[in-house]
Amino acid sequence: MKAEDELRAVASEVRGCEACKLHLSRKNAVPGEGPAASELMFIGEGPGFHENEQGRPFVGAAGKYLDELLAKIGLSREQVFIGNVVKCRPPGNRDPLPEEIQACAGYLERQVNAIQPRVIVTLGRFSMARYFPNTRISDIHGQARLVNGRMVVAMYHPAAALHQPSLRREIEADFARLPELIQRAAPTASETEPKAPPQQLNLF
Ligand code: URA
Ligand code: SF4
Repeated sequence: MKAEDELRAVASEVRGCEACKLHLSRKNAVPGEGPAASELMFIGEGPGFHENEQGRPFVGAAGKYLDELLAKIGLSREQVFIGNVVKCRPPGNRDPLPEEIQACAGYLERQVNAIQPRVIVTLGRFSMARYFPNTRISDIHGQARLVNGRMVVAMYHPAAALHQPSLRREIEADFARLPELIQRAAPTASETEPKAPPQQLNLF
């Protein structure tokens, strides 16, 4: 299946999903959005108030800050995929429960497999835990690590960083490294291009 079609299929399944009890209190499920060919994929925690109202990811205060962070590195949200660990809002913005994360995990997996991003950025500890269980975000944020051959970078959640000057500095420094990491994660020429025939050199 083409990546666009798979993303559309996931989004439509998510909107009708009743696999965990978060479906009972949602107004709109938030499947996530962005181009199928995104090189960069952000994974947040779950929809908050505004996301639940609009059915779109990161459209509240944290989302505005995410837009600013992207702009500082010359990107806009239209160029990246933005998703979440759980697609329906936990009531009162409580933490998602392990069984809710588990119930929703297959959708995120399908999104990652369809997009095949060069770099995944986890925002906050719930998406971090999916790739780096038993780690602390303060220990590993901003570090590029390979998980099953894909580059994953854990970062603070923009909502946490927004009001905390020290975390703000950290997340901005971590974002500043992303352009270089995306380049480093790029497939090398030898992976994408047919091998050139051996060159004939006439030295004399
Ligand atoms: N916080 C998140 O983790 N995800 C959103 O979509 C919005 C806020
Ligand atoms: Fe389904 Fe995920 Fe929503 Fe739970 S949070 S109802 S698993 S889409």
